[in-house]
Amino acid sequence: MLTLNGAAPDLGALDTPLLVVALATAPALTDELRPVDAATNGALGRALARRDFRGGRDETLQLAGGDRGILRVLLVGMGPAADRANALRRAAAIGGRQANKLGVGRAAFFAGAANAADVEAIGLGLVAGSWDFKEMKSPPPADEERAPLTEATVLAADAAARDQGLRAARAIGEGHSLARRLGMLPGNVCTPDYLADTARDIAKRLNMTVTTLDRAAMQREKMGSFLAVAQGTTQDPKLIVLEHRRGPKDGKPVVLVGKGLCFDSGGISIKPAQGMEWMKFDMCGAAGVLGAMEAIGRLELPVNVVGLIGSTTNMPSGEAMKPGDVVQASNGKFIEIINTDAEGRLVLADVLAFAKRFSPSAVIDAATLTGACVIALGHTATGVMGTDEPLVQEVLDAGKRSGEPGWPLPLWDDYKELIKSDVADIKNSGGRPAGTITAALFLKEFAEGYPWVHLDIAGTAYTESDLGTVPRGPTGVPVGTFVEFARGRAR
Ligand code: BES
Ligand code: MN
Ligand code: ZN
Repeated sequence: MLTLNGAAPDLGALDTPLLVVALATAPALTDELRPVDAATNGALGRALARRDFRGGRDETLQLAGGDRGILRVLLVGMGPAADRANALRRAAAIGGRQANKLGVGRAAFFAGAANAADVEAIGLGLVAGSWDFKEMKSPPPADEERAPLTEATVLAADAAARDQGLRAARAIGEGHSLARRLGMLPGNVCTPDYLADTARDIAKRLNMTVTTLDRAAMQREKMGSFLAVAQGTTQDPKLIVLEHRRGPKDGKPVVLVGKGLCFDSGGISIKPAQGMEWMKFDMCGAAGVLGAMEAIGRLELPVNVVGLIGSTTNMPSGEAMKPGDVVQASNGKFIEIINTDAEGRLVLADVLAFAKRFSPSAVIDAATLTGACVIALGHTATGVMGTDEPLVQEVLDAGKRSGEPGWPLPLWDDYKELIKSDVADIKNSGGRPAGTITAALFLKEFAEGYPWVHLDIAGTAYTESDLGTVPRGPTGVPVGTFVEFARGRAR
């Protein structure tokens, strides 16, 4: 991750290869921008006067600076900027990405007066925009090399706001970047063992405790649903428990649950070959939990948070579960497996039942659970469903604050008809109608004894097209939502 630092906005004395200036709609050449106008030999003033740049959302214009001081200026539009934090984060992400493309190495960011929340948003945007995954590519020849952004300076007059905002941005940025890296890592590297090792590393560095249940331990816990998915792979499945206990002693924890399918082939109900490689992202819920725990630990939030990850790989084999099989979950319920590709809910069933032993004040799970959610909400909103209305609202608010919007879907009992089984208590697929809701209703059968919210991040955890702020690949969702929720509980 890039190094974030802060400085007073003394633009006349600034030395930087790139100054990013974020401007809202209908920008004017204010006094504070005079030094930038001077550095660009009046090009800034002319561009604004000619309305070459109008400050629209995601609009950019690059101007040449001088031989010394400010060498280049990038204007980034924020649109009407009704939601300043989200507009700043987005503008900073565009700036960070452009800095990488230019290969300038360093950059400064200016958006006028900035309080702690603004500085945090800018810092997070710069981290997110400059994030890149290069560890599996050989370095290019020296003459083609472009220096990635490794150091960014956020300009803000208030020193206390700078320090507070940057501290938060660094902590959350690390978590966000970790989640994206884990998402990008291929299934042959990022295995259940790898996720467990990552959790151990977080625990060691940030004063948390970690325990893992392997296949044998899960057999002792009678987790027949989770184990049904894992029986098709020789890799050892893992239920990972990562605990951050900095809240009141014996205070009920928030439990964050993540689906960690390191690869989802569909199993015997195998998926089409076209695009199947994307299913390495089926562990983005787990990555979100680990990323959030990384951030929460770095922020030293005074709350009790337990992260739970159910991790395995869904593979066809001679040993694999098959349609028609009936398994029994750890809460005693019998499940008829209609479709082996509806495996995430089978894993989460036992993890959600396991969550009860922590006497949670709230449980939030995140899972790339249904293709139906991508059809319903696209790549813009996370599907949000739960058993407790105030908790659903609290999670929606946290998502909004972090720029990861969610949208509620109805968890009505009427839909339960679709997952009634002839032979068992419930079946794991209700077919195509209301696929996101029936998946959540299935989970509800195991999320008993605590307030619960489910996030279907199938559309939001990664993107198959370049979004401008985010390249093809993992987005970091739901790290922001989880962290904002925990921060809300810490207040
Ligand atoms: N991991 C997939 C869901 C998914 C699909 C996420 C596409 C992102 C993009 C999940 O395990 C799955 O396969 N769900 C099935 C459920 C069906 C068989 C009831 C689906 O959505 O098709
Ligand atoms: Mn599947
Ligand atoms: Zn899956």
